[in-house]
Amino acid sequence: MVNSDSPIKDPWQILEESIIYYYDRPLGTVAACDPNTAPLNYDQCFIRDFVPAALVFLIKGKTDIVRYFLVHTLKLQIKERQLDFLEPGRGLMPASFKVIHEEREQYLKADFGDHAIGRVTPVDSCLWWMFLLRAYVKATEEYSLAHTPEMQKGIRLIMELCLSARFDMYPTLLVPDGACMIDRRMGINGHPLEIQALFYNALRCAQELLLDNPENEKINQALNNRLTPLGVHLRHHYWLDLERLNIIYRYKGEEYGENVLNQFNIYSDSIPYADLSEWLPANGGYLVGNLGPSQLDCRFFSLGNLVAILSALVTQKQAEAILNTIEKKWNDLIGFMPMKICFPALKDRDWQLLTGCDPKNRPWSYHNGGNWPVLLWLLVAASLKHNRPEIAEKAIEIAAQRLPQDEWTEYYDGKNGRLVGKEARKYQTWTIAGFLLARELMDNSQCLSWISHN
Ligand code: GLC
Repeated sequence: MVNSDSPIKDPWQILEESIIYYYDRPLGTVAACDPNTAPLNYDQCFIRDFVPAALVFLIKGKTDIVRYFLVHTLKLQIKERQLDFLEPGRGLMPASFKVIHEEREQYLKADFGDHAIGRVTPVDSCLWWMFLLRAYVKATEEYSLAHTPEMQKGIRLIMELCLSARFDMYPTLLVPDGACMIDRRMGINGHPLEIQALFYNALRCAQELLLDNPENEKINQALNNRLTPLGVHLRHHYWLDLERLNIIYRYKGEEYGENVLNQFNIYSDSIPYADLSEWLPANGGYLVGNLGPSQLDCRFFSLGNLVAILSALVTQKQAEAILNTIEKKWNDLIGFMPMKICFPALKDRDWQLLTGCDPKNRPWSYHNGGNWPVLLWLLVAASLKHNRPEIAEKAIEIAAQRLPQDEWTEYYDGKNGRLVGKEARKYQTWTIAGFLLARELMDNSQCLSWISHN
């Protein structure tokens, strides 16, 4: 059982103190309030970081902050087509923003990755925004907010941006490296799972929220046409279990034509089949990290797999297999802090080539196999969705033992997540919010319907 007497240093107050205001009204939360580290851009409100905090506020009936956030971040979305094509694409939403005070005026300054380290594109922002808008209307039943002309236009622009034809042959989204929670080079360019799962989820949210009217007709049709092939593609080509591993292991290369088995020309020497054949539990499986020509990235990425469960991108059976994998590979995927952002870490020459020798992303650190407590809420939600409360309880118990003492660390390092992250911030808002949300979900499982699909 979860010990409710653990010495929690009032995380609610820390969350409250992280709130930022715009014209005296609460609008979002800063990424971190670590008094001992230079803020860089952690004093900004990140769209992805605000999601767990927003869900906590919704559960607690503090709906205004979420509404205000949705309305004002929508205003930051790129609305016009730029003639010089030097601006970000129409529909894109910023990674983060801050409130600038100028004499008596205030305005929001957005970062579309044009200031961020590595100039990474925040592809996931608009997808998380859709996730939150749907959660808001489900929680408040204020469907009229999503039905305003401004919101409908915003959703349409996001859909147009995602669904427009580009240089690509797959139903998935082609994106640059670092376009999501992992916002540094980590060899996840192409068709990374995290973006695909969020994309699938966003399509499902848009399906619910877009009105059936002549203005939306084309986009409604386009998104309906995309959902099925996207789901089929991911459930089939990204799925890895012992049965699939056996098939891939015996793949023939150089097959040409429409009905070949090895469509992506995967050479089994390129995947760690010996390790995988030992590691994969008999009743387990998961969605791999990426797929492209002669490329199957077999790393386990937690966020993508958990969102795939919540959005019902994977079947019931696959969802259970993913949860079995987490349960059976507990030491690898959870260890001393739920949970690993990805497993295993890139090492040696892979680390050099795929991260660009990034010292922050050394093996088993930060994005490269670090443990991120923010992922706890997703693990808890996915476990509860499939009636596995024991996974959720155990994970919360582990987190509760360390997070308050470690002052709500951003991430942990080491193969088993036992070290406080080398450059991790303390008082990281989404660590606090993710923990509070995980506990709230245990007591308010009806809220699961705001963030999941059947
Ligand atoms: C790091 C994380 C990113 C997060 C940001 C602010 O850059 O990789 O996902 O949004 O910190 O917390």
